[in-house]
Amino acid sequence: MTLRILRVQDDTTLLDWQRVHNEIVPPAALSVDEVRERVTRNVLEVLYDDEVLVGCSTVRPPSAETPAATVIVRVLPPYRGRGFGETLYQHCLHQAQGQGVETHILSSNVDGVRFALAHGFVEVETYAMPGDAVQWVLLRRT
Ligand SMILES: CC(C)(COP(=O)(O)OP(=O)(O)OC[C@H]1O[C@@H](n2cnc3c(N)ncnc32)[C@H](O)[C@@H]1OP(=O)(O)O)[C@@H](O)C(=O)NCCC(=O)NCCS
Repeated sequence: MTLRILRVQDDTTLLDWQRVHNEIVPPAALSVDEVRERVTRNVLEVLYDDEVLVGCSTVRPPSAETPAATVIVRVLPPYRGRGFGETLYQHCLHQAQGQGVETHILSSNVDGVRFALAHGFVEVETYAMPGDAVQWVLLRRT
């Protein structure tokens, strides 16, 4: 097993990042152009086990409205429970700066909520985007 974490830097890594993101959070599926725009603001990375696409991550820097960094890690269901999420999360934490860390999880992603709670996050609120019934959970670790 050779783990590789690559920053989104070309079409291959961009499309792989998009594939994992959209499979895990279909209600927030992003177009290629939207991913290209996110690359300019956030650190987007892709996790491979040898050549196999396993997961992806987002690290959003703190901003005036959100003084905490945002870290979101995603592992495709067939590869969960083997430590990939932990490896990617620790990698992302090293990059995150700011006052604490936040994460946003689709409330139906029970694996994700459990993972965050086990890593010291506490639930701040459950919310929905305007005009949308999909529920998200905001969690924060100080
Ligand atoms: C959250 C998520 C990234 C975790 O990915 P993962 O690869 O399954 O994470 P890990 O394997 O490191 O840990 C998951 C569980 O497997 C266990 N585990 C890890 N390695 C293991 C091993 N070798 N043998 C047995 N169990 C193992 C961990 O202890 C953990 O147990 P827990 O859920 O009871 O606490 C994944 O579930 C996911 O993508 N969820 C949807 C996206 C999401 O909500 N992300 C937000 C998180 S910030």
